[in-house]
Amino acid sequence: MRVLSVVGARPQFVKLAPVAEAFAAAGVDHRIVHTGQHYDPGMSDVFFADLRIPKPDVNLTVGSASHGVQTGAMLGALEEVMLREQPDWVLVYGDTNSTLAAALAAVKIHLPLAHLEAGLRSFNRRMPEEHNRVLTDHAADLLLAPTAVAMDHLAEEGLARRSVLVGDVMTDVCLRVRDAVLADPPPPPAGLARGGYVVATIHRAENTDDPQRLRAVVASLAGLSVPVLLMAHPRLRARCQEQGIDLESGSLRVVDPLPYPGMVAAVLGSSGVVTDSGGLQKEAFLLRRPCTTLRTETEWVETLEGRWNVLAPDLVGLDALAARPAPAEPTLQPYGSGDAARQVVTALGT
Ligand code: UD1
Repeated sequence: MRVLSVVGARPQFVKLAPVAEAFAAAGVDHRIVHTGQHYDPGMSDVFFADLRIPKPDVNLTVGSASHGVQTGAMLGALEEVMLREQPDWVLVYGDTNSTLAAALAAVKIHLPLAHLEAGLRSFNRRMPEEHNRVLTDHAADLLLAPTAVAMDHLAEEGLARRSVLVGDVMTDVCLRVRDAVLADPPPPPAGLARGGYVVATIHRAENTDDPQRLRAVVASLAGLSVPVLLMAHPRLRARCQEQGIDLESGSLRVVDPLPYPGMVAAVLGSSGVVTDSGGLQKEAFLLRRPCTTLRTETEWVETLEGRWNVLAPDLVGLDALAARPAPAEPTLQPYGSGDAARQVVTALGT
């Protein structure tokens, strides 16, 4: 059995890690294609090294471009690789442009397509990711859903027969790395005091690409009354530079994006998280730090239970929200118990 995984952006490398390990344990002939959507060493190579992911068999080095140019460049190049490799399954992850390009390339040449993290919905049609995930789900032959809510979305769209609940593979990685960090916790970065700062990330188009919105988001973070460890995505830095917005202001302590174990350690050392990242909302929940999300909606609705996660799109009352204490321990494990990757291997029939 040959499986061809296609990844390209940072969160996909995290999802790939436990899946690659489970494929190796099951003796699957697993090939990895990296589209090159993310290419800075800190956004790519470091994840392969830290999470012990085998080196990609192919890197298409497409780099950054507009949606159409980037997705189109991947589409042609992926078709060539898929025709050569003839896998039994093409496996795509999440909702990036790399996901959509690989899904289209596979189905057009009649290769079986499986979508990991199927069924997530924001119902916000302004988000590029929403189109990527909806189109990929409807193209795929096998939909590997992370949660019961995702399964419901797929059923509502007539896709129940192709859907399997496997759990969330990011939970597999997060819990494993959490245990390693807790066994030997490093000091918090940037000279911060344990428990005395919040972690922040901002990278979504809706927060970075409108200058007025970007200015308001940065000003709100800079105005918090606790130090803010801002892990600055290259997109955030680029947009701030274009707009002459100073990131090094007020409470902000700016660092480059951290490697995965460093990010988990930073969250564990913090009192809370402010973000627009899907992955980090869930990681905050798993690591039991209250999260405030600067978006109008979330795909990971389970994190809202008990106010572990609160949506604050209008930035009102952000200081009090960011400083709120951790709520009561959740009673459910909506993201599985950390064995989703094994379920993926089983669902693929390997
Ligand atoms: C992409 C995904 C998003 C995911 C995010 C995780 C899409 C539509 N979006 O957004 O769903 O949450 O990855 O990080 O696929 N850049 C660099 N170096 C890099 C990569 C990007 O400098 O290694 C800069 C470039 O200026 C680039 C910009 O970041 O234009 C945006 O990169 P892109 O891959 O288009 O989207 P992300 O914002 O990273």
